[in-house]
Amino acid sequence: MNTADDRNKKVVAVVTGSSSGIGFETSLVLAKNGFVTYATMRNLGKSNKIIELKQKKKLPLEVLKLDVTDDKSIKEAIENIANEQQGTIDVLVNNAGYGLLGPLEELSIQEFKEQFEANVFGVIRVIQEILPVMRKQGHGTIVNISSVAGRIGFPLTSAYVSSKFALEGLSESIAYELEPFGINVILVEPGVIKTNFDSNLKIGKNVSTTTATTTSDRNSPYADITEKRIAAFKPRFENASPPTEVAKVILNVITSKNVQPRSRYLVGSDAFKLMEIRKNKSDKEFRRLVMEAVLK
Ligand SMILES: NC(=O)c1ccc[n+]([C@@H]2O[C@H](COP(=O)([O-])OP(=O)(O)OC[C@H]3O[C@@H](n4cnc5c(N)ncnc54)[C@H](OP(=O)(O)O)[C@@H]3O)[C@@H](O)[C@H]2O)c1
Repeated sequence: MNTADDRNKKVVAVVTGSSSGIGFETSLVLAKNGFVTYATMRNLGKSNKIIELKQKKKLPLEVLKLDVTDDKSIKEAIENIANEQQGTIDVLVNNAGYGLLGPLEELSIQEFKEQFEANVFGVIRVIQEILPVMRKQGHGTIVNISSVAGRIGFPLTSAYVSSKFALEGLSESIAYELEPFGINVILVEPGVIKTNFDSNLKIGKNVSTTTATTTSDRNSPYADITEKRIAAFKPRFENASPPTEVAKVILNVITSKNVQPRSRYLVGSDAFKLMEIRKNKSDKEFRRLVMEAVLK
C-alpha cells in the first residue's frame, strides 16, 4: 500500500471537494501524516481556512481549483500536479458530491443529470485523467466516497441513492481492470456525517411540500411525505459522526502495510447498525422500518 511513513519517499494525494466536510478533513489528515496533499475545490474563494491551517501547521498541502463537472478544470489540475510531482500521484480521493431530494415524479431530468454529473461522471472524469499517471508508475489507490445510500435505498432521494449505487458498481467493476496495474479501488461508505451536506442539500425546483406557498404545490400527492422527509433530514446531522472519522478511516486504509485493502469500508456507528438490520430483515420488513423511521 501507499505509505507516507517512509519520510524519505514523497507520497502524493489528491482530494476533490476539499472546501468543507469530509474533503476538508481528509486533506488535513493526509497532509498532517506526511502526504503531499492537493486539496482541490471548485471555488477557491472557500480556501481561506485550509490555507490558514496549512500555514499555521506548516503542512505539505496545496490548494488547487478543480470542478468535477468541468473537463478543462480537471485536465489542468491533474496536469499541474503530475508536472509538479514528476509524474507521481499515489492516492486519489473522489469526495466531491451533493444530495438531491424530491420524489422522482417531481424531479426534472435536468436535475437528475446534474446529480449524476457531480456524483458519478465527475468521478469518472477525474479517474480517467489520473489513470495514465497511476498506470505508468505501477501503483495507486483510488478511494471513492460512496455512502450507506450506495447500498440501501431511501425514500425521496432516488437521484442521490442511484448516483451512489452507480458509483458502487463502477468501483467494483474497475477494481478488476486496474488490479493488474497495481491500482486499488476502495469504497468508503459513511453513515450520517456532520458536514455541510445538509445545508448544501438541493430540493428539486418543482418539489412540493405542505408548507409550499402556492396551493397547487400544496396539493401535490407527495407534499405530505416530502414535508416529513425534509423535517426528518436535518435533525439527523445534529449528533452525527464528525468528518474526521471518515478521514481517519481513509488514512488507515491507505497506510496499512502489507494488507490487501477490502473493497468497502463503512464509517459511523449508524452505518454499521443499519447494514446489520438490513442483513437480518426481509425486503418488506426493512421497507416498513424505513417508512416508520423516515416518513411517519
Ligand atoms: N455528510 C454525510 O452524511 C455523508 C454521508 C455519506 C456520504 N457522503 C458523501 O461525502 C462526500 C462529501 O460530502 P460532505 O458530507 O463532506 O458534504 P459538504 O460539506 O457539502 O462537502 C461537499 C464538497 O463537495 C464539493 N462539490 C460539490 N459539487 C462539486 C463539483 N462540481 N466540483 C467540485 N466540488 C464539488 C463541495 O464544494 P462547494 O463548497 O463548492 O459546494 C464541497 O467541497 C459526498 O460525496 C457525499 O455524498 C456524505
